[in-house]
Amino acid sequence: MKKNRNLKVSIVMGSQSDYKTMRLAEKTLKKIGVSFETKIVSAHRTPKRMYDYALKAKQNNIGVIIAGAGGSAHLPGMISALTSLPVLGVPIESKKLKGLDSLLSIAQMPKGIPVGTLAIGKDGAINAALLAASIIANQNPTIKKKLNNWRSSQTKSVKKNPK
Ligand code: RP5
Repeated sequence: MKKNRNLKVSIVMGSQSDYKTMRLAEKTLKKIGVSFETKIVSAHRTPKRMYDYALKAKQNNIGVIIAGAGGSAHLPGMISALTSLPVLGVPIESKKLKGLDSLLSIAQMPKGIPVGTLAIGKDGAINAALLAASIIANQNPTIKKKLNNWRSSQTKSVKKNPK
């Protein structure tokens, strides 16, 4: 198969209120040098926008979708139902249940439609970006190199002695 070096990551979230978490995914992709776009797409408040977005994702040169959602958090699963692109779900920390609701909604997809689920909140947003970069790196040797550099500088930054 021919490699597509122009694939980008698409970051979507159910609400403006998710951006304080999801901007960490943007920040991480920027550091590594992966192209991305960011959008608000809500499964229940803007269902038509979600449908159109998911159906056009492949032709828009998207290689991976990161979807952040909180509460009943059906956005990642609904998008995954509409496209065969890999979908990574970030459970947003909700006020009432601290994101456990979001985590279970995203992780417990019934068989047939998968969503790769990350940790609740900011750690999840950062790891979703790193995982998305790894997926993009399969098609793009420049990104592979940048990701490996990022990982080795992380390793070097860990001190041996806590004092
Ligand atoms: C979900 O509802 C969003 O992903 C968000 O995490 C949650 C609350 O949204 P707002 O009421 O803050 O807009 O759809």
